[in-house]
Amino acid sequence: MTGSDAELVKADFSHLYNRPDPRDYVRTLSRLDYEIPDRARPVFETIFAAMRSAGAVGDEPLRVLDLCCSYGVNAALLCCDLDLEDLVDRYSSPELQDLATDELCTADKEYYATRLVPDAVRVRGLDAAANAVAYACRVGLLVNGWAENLETDPASTELASDLDQVDVVICTGGIGYITERTLTQVARTRPGRPAPWLAAFVLRQYSYEPISAALSHHGMVTEQLHGISFPQRRFASDSEREAALRAVTKRGLDPSGYEEAGRYYADFYLSRPGNDSRIPVDSLLATVMP
Ligand SMILES: C[S@@+](CC[C@H](N)C(=O)[O-])C[C@H]1O[C@@H](n2cnc3c(N)ncnc32)[C@H](O)[C@@H]1O
Repeated sequence: MTGSDAELVKADFSHLYNRPDPRDYVRTLSRLDYEIPDRARPVFETIFAAMRSAGAVGDEPLRVLDLCCSYGVNAALLCCDLDLEDLVDRYSSPELQDLATDELCTADKEYYATRLVPDAVRVRGLDAAANAVAYACRVGLLVNGWAENLETDPASTELASDLDQVDVVICTGGIGYITERTLTQVARTRPGRPAPWLAAFVLRQYSYEPISAALSHHGMVTEQLHGISFPQRRFASDSEREAALRAVTKRGLDPSGYEEAGRYYADFYLSRPGNDSRIPVDSLLATVMP
């Protein structure tokens, strides 16, 4: 749906995506109650637990790639004893406002290190915004970071080789910016290994069909989690709301109880290699259902 009515009317936050540090990004999006990373965390953690109990990764920490990782918000929530409200409080606190980026970086490195949970997953990140990726690496949230745009370019040799190591790919708030052009480069079979699992939250206004169709050519089976959609954030304007209502209605979805009430909602999709798909996603994630 890239280039659609809904895409064109969606508020443009791209000026916040590549700042030297996360303060403006976190503060601005928190004013719109941005919440998808918090909502996504229990889903991702349940998937990680299922992969571990299936013996997919042995005793090693799970290797996660966060697509459109930005400043490492998902990594912070998955690896540290923190929720989004903690990050909003931190990056809005008056004591941190006057710090230079280098000073904030030093403080953040300690902040995250002291909150690391035992046996945390190891997160790599990919985002087109080089400053955001660099910050997340400097403060220790990402073990590896890649500032590449796979919509326009093939993955570098170094990134391609790192992708060979990944067990699972996650994405919040990224689909729409990235399409099957990016996803087929990261969720693909590797030498001697099947493709990684891909767990993505996708605004209801976007069809996931082009992505799931492209992934099926790589032996991946995609399922949508039924019975639940996840709030992403409040609309920034009436025109955003109207465009989203039109777009979801055009897709045959009913906006009442969802977008009509003033927020974007995302659906969850899981793509797995055919041999890993015996347990349906609705059963796998039964415990996260309300
Ligand atoms: C709404 S933010 C979501 C960030 C983060 N996942 C979260 O939920 O907080 C969208 C992100 O997509 C990134 N992005 C946009 N186009 C991209 C592309 N072609 N390739 C990789 N990242 C892209 C932006 O730089 C930005 O960090």
